[in-house]
Amino acid sequence: MLVAGNWKMNGLLNDAEHLAEKLASGNTQNRNTEVIIFPPFLHISAVARIVQKFDIKTGGQNCSVAESGANTGEISCEMLLDIGCSHVIVGHSERRSLHGETDALVAKKYAAALDVGLTPILCVGESLEQHNSGETEEVVVRQLSSVRETVGLGGLCSGIIAYEPLWSIGTGRAALPSKVQSVHETIRSCLGDEGAKTRIVYGGSLNSQNSAAMFAEKDIDGGLVGGASLQAEEFLRIIKMAERL
Ligand code: 13P
Repeated sequence: MLVAGNWKMNGLLNDAEHLAEKLASGNTQNRNTEVIIFPPFLHISAVARIVQKFDIKTGGQNCSVAESGANTGEISCEMLLDIGCSHVIVGHSERRSLHGETDALVAKKYAAALDVGLTPILCVGESLEQHNSGETEEVVVRQLSSVRETVGLGGLCSGIIAYEPLWSIGTGRAALPSKVQSVHETIRSCLGDEGAKTRIVYGGSLNSQNSAAMFAEKDIDGGLVGGASLQAEEFLRIIKMAERL
């Protein structure tokens, strides 16, 4: 199982350190569950220093496609690796919708992460409109295909896929576990035999009330948690749910 916390653009350095300390002291290090947190770029180093000896990994919420050079304001994958990150989120819906990231750009970011040895977490998912018109599978398959065309099937399978329906992010309306399972089956089928071990996690209004039912589904290998990952006790409860399975 995998439980990841995406802190998004929340908190100041002091808040990040406090949250990290609480997670470090509460994490039971039961190793059937991998725990990764994604603080804002500026806070990653301080957070990594606190959590790394407690077997909590850290990652970036985004990365540049470029290796280095004239790219004002960007952060390269190698820089993330250098400060202790093991993972990076690519193609989060907020990057796609608020920052104009296209499938092609997301695929390049995925490739850049693999090139330096970071594990990318590829976010896919449909909007409310696409959901209501029954296009979920089509959207998700298209988002996966774009990455597959760039890095090949082996590359796609070596990352992590996060299915995050846009209408469930930050709304308090998690998707039904059975519906998520069905989308995850579609994702798994796109990965073929090589993808049997690829982790496919769910994100969207996960909390300690709904995560056990979600994690119990066959093809749901964990969660990418937003809001609930900002409260240490709540995030630790979600980790405990995953550890029980
Ligand atoms: P919420 O858990 O706040 O809905 O956010 C999910 C998310 O976007 C994680 O990447």
